[in-house]
Amino acid sequence: MRAMKKLVVGNWKMHGSRASNAELIKGLLAADLAATAPKADVAVCPPFVFLADVAEALKGSAIAWGSQDVSVQAQGAYTGEVSGPMVREFGAKYAIVGHSERRSYHLESDQLVADKAKAALAHGLTPIVCVGETLAEREAGQTEAVVARQMKAVIDTLGAQLVQVVVAYEPVWAIGTGKTASPEQAQAVHAFLRAQLKAALPEAAKVPLLYGGSVKPDNAAELFAQADIDGGLIGGAALKAADFAAIARAA
Ligand code: PGA
Repeated sequence: MRAMKKLVVGNWKMHGSRASNAELIKGLLAADLAATAPKADVAVCPPFVFLADVAEALKGSAIAWGSQDVSVQAQGAYTGEVSGPMVREFGAKYAIVGHSERRSYHLESDQLVADKAKAALAHGLTPIVCVGETLAEREAGQTEAVVARQMKAVIDTLGAQLVQVVVAYEPVWAIGTGKTASPEQAQAVHAFLRAQLKAALPEAAKVPLLYGGSVKPDNAAELFAQADIDGGLIGGAALKAADFAAIARAA
């Protein structure tokens, strides 16, 4: 049985400043999501440098936090990297891994993403593993093959730990474009991923499957109503407290 609560995660990407984050968090706390969005677990993922501020501001609230990436290494001579234990020290619960922007701009391979998921788990973080096809891949009829390949690296690498991850299906063509996958399109891929996870490990059928890609207050309810959509990974709309709160309430 999957959790009844939806998971709504804000991915702030490379946005914000200490001042604007403080405003955003003030708005989120004022929205009192524990009371007004009781069916959603909520988290935000700021850039690394803001984790300390965000942890301080959200301490004791119903909102959890996470990082947008994590190194496969725990520590060492890896200039520019940030490790799981470092992120964990700031009380983070989640680490997004394999976001399409990292796969494409930083050439992260399926195996590297899987290794990052494993590293996150090793250090007490729940990885939010992103998968998704490009427009060209969708148009070529390769959507299932692409997400299955991305997922397989994670399945093969994690073994029994597969049950501990969160997966986010984010069609690349829907990210930041205003083009949302229709609820039916998203549900079809989610059902496919659910079946793949279950076939790999029966207990993995309960892995939360988030949808991401232009989720907004006006389309969230319909997406969240789909049988295999367990929440959302929210980019642009997570930067406005009112919009993010409305999405959490749509759960
Ligand atoms: P978007 O981004 O909501 O701005 O489309 C989602 C994401 O990339 O996680």
